Amino acid sequence: MKLSAEQIQENWGKFISNINQYITGDRREKLLEFYNKYQDRLILMPAAHKKEYHNAFPGGYVDHVNRVVRCAIKQSKIWEEEDADMTTFTEEELIFSAINHDLGKMGDEEQDSYIPQTDKWRKDKLGEDYTFNNKVPFASVPDRGLFLLQSHDIKYNFNEMVAIQTHDGLYDAANEKYLKGWMPEQKPRTALPFILHQADMMAARIEFEKEWLPKFSKDNLASPKTNYTLNTNNKASVKSKALSNIGSKGLKNMLDNL
Ligand SMILES: [Fe+2]
Repeated sequence: MKLSAEQIQENWGKFISNINQYITGDRREKLLEFYNKYQDRLILMPAAHKKEYHNAFPGGYVDHVNRVVRCAIKQSKIWEEEDADMTTFTEEELIFSAINHDLGKMGDEEQDSYIPQTDKWRKDKLGEDYTFNNKVPFASVPDRGLFLLQSHDIKYNFNEMVAIQTHDGLYDAANEKYLKGWMPEQKPRTALPFILHQADMMAARIEFEKEWLPKFSKDNLASPKTNYTLNTNNKASVKSKALSNIGSKGLKNMLDNL
């Protein structure tokens, strides 16, 4: 996938406006200062160094983070509708965690984690546009993200720390201590980590679909399921099924025109 210069710029504007809209107090200014300082690096950063992952193209990182913010807001509404305890976290904690969940992908203060692939063979044969920068010492993405925040004096609270730390859910075995405890007292006391993980997984899956599904030969795919989306989900067939149960022809005609 490729984003136009306008889309990249627009995404950055949205990224900053999310901070302005949802983050309050002193740390809003600190976050803005931080992100403005590193804007030139972050605005063009991919979300991954391998195209087999997701959004591995210029501007992919911000595009991904903005999608995670949108998905997190939508996911939290689903949890709320299903009676999750929404008093255990705040909207600001949710958005702060979403905005910063992948910050550790940036690298350190001096170096990008993902740099252009210079190996021509790997670029041509494997389609690798980026490679991991070995000058950056290893740290997990959540650890590095939290380190960057604290080293720039951007405070995060306990809920935000656990949510950022565990945003990969059980895809990262390191999160088992938080997410696989069977004892009630060891389970997270808020749904926030689960909501953020679902939002991140949803965003990454959609990004995979955008990148890869069109590349697979249509011959190898089952015919598109045109009735499958919730928006179009069998509205016509549900209606005709309902109408078939109505005896009166006049009533049927009337309802048919609705
Ligand atoms: Fe992510």
